[in-house]
Amino acid sequence: MALKYFLGVVLSYVLLYCASAAVHGQHGHSVDTLERESDGSFRARDYEHYSDSGHNSEFDHEAILGSVREAEEFDKLSPEEAKRRLALLLPKMDTNGDQEIDRKELKEWILKSFINLSREEAQERLVEADEDRDGAVSWPEYLHDAFGVDTEEDVGPDDAGDSGLLLQEEKAMWAVADSNSDGILELDEFQVFTNPEEHADMHPFLINQTLREKDTNRDGRIDFNEYIGERGNQQDKGWLISEKEKFDHDLDLNKDGVIDLPEIHAWVIPNNDEIADEEVDHLFASADDDHDDLLTFQEILLHHEVFVGSEATDYGSDLMGDHFADEL
Ligand SMILES: *[C@@H]1O[C@H](CO)[C@@H](O)[C@H](O)[C@H]1NC(C)=O
Ligand SMILES: *[C@@H]1O[C@H](CO)[C@@H](O)[C@H](O)[C@H]1NC(C)=O
Repeated sequence: MALKYFLGVVLSYVLLYCASAAVHGQHGHSVDTLERESDGSFRARDYEHYSDSGHNSEFDHEAILGSVREAEEFDKLSPEEAKRRLALLLPKMDTNGDQEIDRKELKEWILKSFINLSREEAQERLVEADEDRDGAVSWPEYLHDAFGVDTEEDVGPDDAGDSGLLLQEEKAMWAVADSNSDGILELDEFQVFTNPEEHADMHPFLINQTLREKDTNRDGRIDFNEYIGERGNQQDKGWLISEKEKFDHDLDLNKDGVIDLPEIHAWVIPNNDEIADEEVDHLFASADDDHDDLLTFQEILLHHEVFVGSEATDYGSDLMGDHFADEL
């Protein structure tokens, strides 16, 4: 019985893998990476906040702590210790010093957390790519890390590397991010290169990049056929219908049948300001018990598991894990 179940699981994984390989296989350079969706748009910071399996509190914890590493550390703390450390953060959030956190203070904090998260990501990727450990990434180091090659000549014309972008696009973005034009990216510059969507300076470049990739008739706008591009080749009718719906309702905001420059911006670049507003709404709905539109320190500490993790918050998922292991 157990063996049969096990084989069933293995078989479904093999089938799933083949199916996804078939879908992704002959796509040329259509993007689908950790940072970007297959249509080339950047993933929003909160894209995993709500999923099929429900609400994911990790996003909330990272939005408060501004660090994935720290959020993971908190998950190992006792509830008492997690509360104690959370209490130390509150005076920093409370910029007007009135012992309460209002919406504006929380939003400012969350936006700073997003900046810290993006810096942490860049730091980790820099350490991976920085072979000679000089604290910066050179172009050859980046080629090695992202494309697994030593020279540009070794990159195939359709090879999109780890980033989902072609070599010439990577090179163009590198040149823009390298603000002092010394050929290497220090942490600040590398952060711009790895998360260009979070830097307003890079937005014109990203919009042009989208046009270079999709606007095949070069009229400065993207129609539905251009939006689908070569992604359409391997897809069924249901996919096409849902993409058409997305195009008409979510992307073509002024309903004129094409995506123009402001619409490309809204589609490709996530709006952190909106995401922070939504997160403030979510945290207030979870902790503002007396509905006075202010979070007292006491309210926050009472609902500490909404803001930071601890052993107690993790308990449920650990149980699930053990349960699963037992079944197998
Ligand atoms: C961001 O990082 C700075 C420097 O490490 C730190 O002082 C600050 O508290 C952090 N802010 C947030 C919102 O995480
Ligand atoms: C984007 O493209 C336009 C039109 O081709 C050009 O004028 C502009 O300089 C480009 N901007 C960037 C940042 O590449």
